Amino acid sequence: MNHRSFGRLGWQVSEIGYGMWGMGGWTGSDDGESARSIDRAVALGCNFFDTAFAYGMGKSETLLGDALKRHPERKLYVATKIPAKNWKWPGSASTPVSETYPPDHIREMTEKSLANLGIDCLDLQQLHVWSDAWASDEGWQRAADDLKRQKLIRGFGISVNRWEPANVLAALKTGLIDSVQVVYNVFDQSPEDELFPYCQEHGIAIIARVPFDEGSLTGTLSLDSTWPDGDWRNIYFTPQNLAETLARVDRVKTAVPAGMDLPEAALRFILANSTVSTVIPGMRKKTHVEKNLAASDGHPLSPSVVAELRKHRWDRKHVIP
Ligand SMILES: NC(=O)c1ccc[n+]([C@@H]2O[C@H](COP(=O)([O-])OP(=O)(O)OC[C@H]3O[C@@H](n4cnc5c(N)ncnc54)[C@H](OP(=O)(O)O)[C@@H]3O)[C@@H](O)[C@H]2O)c1
Repeated sequence: MNHRSFGRLGWQVSEIGYGMWGMGGWTGSDDGESARSIDRAVALGCNFFDTAFAYGMGKSETLLGDALKRHPERKLYVATKIPAKNWKWPGSASTPVSETYPPDHIREMTEKSLANLGIDCLDLQQLHVWSDAWASDEGWQRAADDLKRQKLIRGFGISVNRWEPANVLAALKTGLIDSVQVVYNVFDQSPEDELFPYCQEHGIAIIARVPFDEGSLTGTLSLDSTWPDGDWRNIYFTPQNLAETLARVDRVKTAVPAGMDLPEAALRFILANSTVSTVIPGMRKKTHVEKNLAASDGHPLSPSVVAELRKHRWDRKHVIP
């Protein structure tokens, strides 16, 4: 497993981290299987874990807390997130910050996450939604600073709205943000336009999320794919979106080199960008852990393959949380 520097915080994090949303709330999760998958990832050198209070109302955090107890000998970096006080996704400029991230909410949710995880200090606390309309508010700024000074967190980050990668640049200018979590994959390349250059220049870590476009870039979905009622993927893969996505996935497959499959190419595409500190595929199965972590082998995609994959950029409008 290769490691990369986590921005100016300087942590050496595994370039493939662990996305823990699915195991907290998606249908079909099995807690035993999730725990075995996490253990396998730790054994293979993964040391960065991304969870959130909202992933099963603390369930994903509890699964991570249990894993921390099973591996006391290893430094595992813990990143979690604070839901907006109004529990709405995505963040919207029309919502006052007093309804999303007032200081007492930031404090209270941090204490809840620490309790779920069974630790005294979070490596990274993140705001789960964002609008730059809130950037100048002194409330969240003071709260973030206080949490650091009181050693309840080591770093503070923002997870930006899907398909709005630049809607965080004003917040970054406060100097208080150590990391940005952003959707970045073969389709969603727009973070390269403004966000990545700014972060690179200012030592802000990048966490690349949703590497498989919620599953489409694994090549396992079809027009017949359905999910049980209540599964979030029904909102994302509406019949119309699924059909358009699958047509594009078929075209991406033509750019995948012989001897490689689509998920491997999708991950390697992200690793090819050195601005990315860590990419966090969502994984609940040991087989997926083994397959994905194997992509960190120090053999980068050739520039010509990267160039072919770049042609599949797809700029979408923000309609989905
Ligand atoms: N607003 C936010 O801050 C936000 C939003 C979305 C995601 N995230 C973070 O980003 C992480 C990643 O995003 P995501 O989990 O939504 O989507 P994703 O990583 O794009 O896709 C996850 C899906 O891919 C499957 N998968 C993983 N590896 C595979 C492989 N090698 N072959 C075939 N299928 C494979 C997973 O299956 P299994 O689960 O069955 O293993 C799961 O169904 C999340 O877990 C979360 O930590 C944050």
